[in-house]
Amino acid sequence: MPTHNTVRQVVSNQKEIVSDLEKTVLKYFQTTYQRPYAAHTIEAFKQAVHFTQAFTQPVILDSGCGCGESSFVLAAKYPNHPVIGIDKSICRLSKTQNKNQPTNLLFLQAELLDFWRLAYAEKLDVFFHALYYPNPWPKESQVGRRFHAHPIFPTLLQLCSNIELRTNWKIYAEEFLEASRVGFQYLQMNFTPFLEEWIPKQPETAFERKYYESGQTLYRVKTMKE
Ligand SMILES: C[S@@+](CC[C@H](N)C(=O)[O-])C[C@H]1O[C@@H](n2cnc3c(N)ncnc32)[C@H](O)[C@@H]1O
Repeated sequence: MPTHNTVRQVVSNQKEIVSDLEKTVLKYFQTTYQRPYAAHTIEAFKQAVHFTQAFTQPVILDSGCGCGESSFVLAAKYPNHPVIGIDKSICRLSKTQNKNQPTNLLFLQAELLDFWRLAYAEKLDVFFHALYYPNPWPKESQVGRRFHAHPIFPTLLQLCSNIELRTNWKIYAEEFLEASRVGFQYLQMNFTPFLEEWIPKQPETAFERKYYESGQTLYRVKTMKE
């Protein structure tokens, strides 16, 4: 049960989704994102490939896994699938250690903007992609840093069409929903993403716990029905 601790809601000067989101998404579908790959992420991707070779089932990614709690949940839920929790923060990832890590779970320090492009280029078979509480970049001037309004978005959508995005900021969820709708339409993929309030039976990530216990409404976008 929420205990109404005081954790701030997202504060933004935005009152609704940005008006030119469709134009932005289409622009990125028509161009190629060319950021050079970081060397440490190339190495991390090699480890990911090596790890997945021991499994016959496709991969589950937990991108921006932070302290990795949700990665443990996913590994238990899908014991036959390799689960990879990825974060750029070694500090957060260090908190995943000393736990009894299942053999189908791997944590990697990597830059998602590079890891996703490597995985897409190398046709990594991704079955489910968890994106739980990504940084919201709440100022309107920061919209281009949100994954759905960033040149990475076409890669994200094509790497795995089965995405679950969770957030405590409704506008982020609405934008992700709209960007996914535009992307699938561009790709002529017949998926209907949907947005719903998300009430966890018990919190699955550190941020989810913080928001849930402070009584905030949580949202999720799923790009595919289960
Ligand atoms: C708000 S935290 C959420 C962490 C976790 N999913 C949770 O719910 O507790 C966002 C996480 O995404 C990671 N992150 C943000 N951008 C990233 C990027 N481009 N590459 C890798 N990790 C990133 C951050 O280091 C941070 O741990």
